[in-house]
Amino acid sequence: MPMSVFLQACRREPTSYTPIWIMRQAGRYQPEYRALREKVSFIELCKTPDLACEVTVRAVDQLGVDAGIIFADILLILEPLRIGFEFTDDHGPRIMDPIREAAQVDGIPERIDAAGSLSYVMDAIRTTLKELDVPLIGFAGAPFTLASYAIEGGGSKNYYEAKKLMLGDEGLWNAFMARLSNAIADYLIAQIDAGAQAVQLFDSWVGCLSPSDYRRYVLPHTKAIFDKLPKNTPAIHFGTGNPELYPAMKEAGGDVIGIDWRISIDEAWARLGDDVGVQGNMDPAALLASTEVMRARASEVLDSAAGRPGHIFNLGHGIMPQATPAQARALVDHVHEASQL
Ligand code: CP3
Repeated sequence: MPMSVFLQACRREPTSYTPIWIMRQAGRYQPEYRALREKVSFIELCKTPDLACEVTVRAVDQLGVDAGIIFADILLILEPLRIGFEFTDDHGPRIMDPIREAAQVDGIPERIDAAGSLSYVMDAIRTTLKELDVPLIGFAGAPFTLASYAIEGGGSKNYYEAKKLMLGDEGLWNAFMARLSNAIADYLIAQIDAGAQAVQLFDSWVGCLSPSDYRRYVLPHTKAIFDKLPKNTPAIHFGTGNPELYPAMKEAGGDVIGIDWRISIDEAWARLGDDVGVQGNMDPAALLASTEVMRARASEVLDSAAGRPGHIFNLGHGIMPQATPAQARALVDHVHEASQL
């Protein structure tokens, strides 16, 4: 593979333009994806390496982005952890038997064989690497986000059940988080062994916590994951909803902190310090505006980053199903052109 601007930016090396990829770049906003999903279920798609490869590569080719992300889902790891779930067509993921009690946590294995039990992800990575001429990102859900899914039973607005367990039984919480963290570390390492050139840890729902609760109940577990990862593979630590958490997230680990639009890039960097990269952070809703407005918003992000080494352009959260591939492509082209030295 030729020298990659994405990997250079992960290492905070200067690049000739700002690299960009888009969270959830393979998905329902693409007509080809929707057509494929008429024929196969989401889980079948994830578990068929040739199909996962096809959708991963299609997103890169259509958009002209500087990295691919392997097509999978953060919840797949729940299967070897023996936490049953399904993807429903209308209400998103559903956990069969939400975790509420000690006996359930006791039933979760302390270690998993990630390379074996999730071998279809490793196969998809190996297949995709042959087809891609940009780096491939592996990923996993962070322990808090996975725990809150498993406890709530699905998506949630307030995370009261998760917080009830977290605040009500710290020992049980830590036991659950430790099992998740062990599995997540093994899973990310297996993806790196399979060839992933960078990894991203998605803590999508962590923003519901205060900084002090984050430090007490989450940081040690997330840090344990980053501490185990090989140092030569860039790791991106992504969170949304609460910019107050970013300094603590940096302490937990990651070469790059993925941020959302609730703070500007320059302010986030001022809080984080310049010994870490920053990924983000256009509001995904800007893709739904006119191309002119969208480009102006993208330029604001670039201006805020001001060409500092270590900026990777992305949305502040995943692309919405209402976006169009043409508008996403226009964003990628604009970021490349406007940031060109
Ligand atoms: O980025 C990519 O292109 C790689 C694929 C990817 C998916 N999920 C595919 C997917 C990635 C990186 C994820 C991560 C993920 N999954 C997160 C973290 C990112 C975020 O958005 O916060 C979370 C919270 C999930 C859990 C999840 N999976 C939800 C909430 C849903 C349903 C809601 C939705 O957006 O559809 C899924 C299903 C899912 N994962 C789909 C895709 C393409 C849609 C499935 C379909 O109907 O085809």
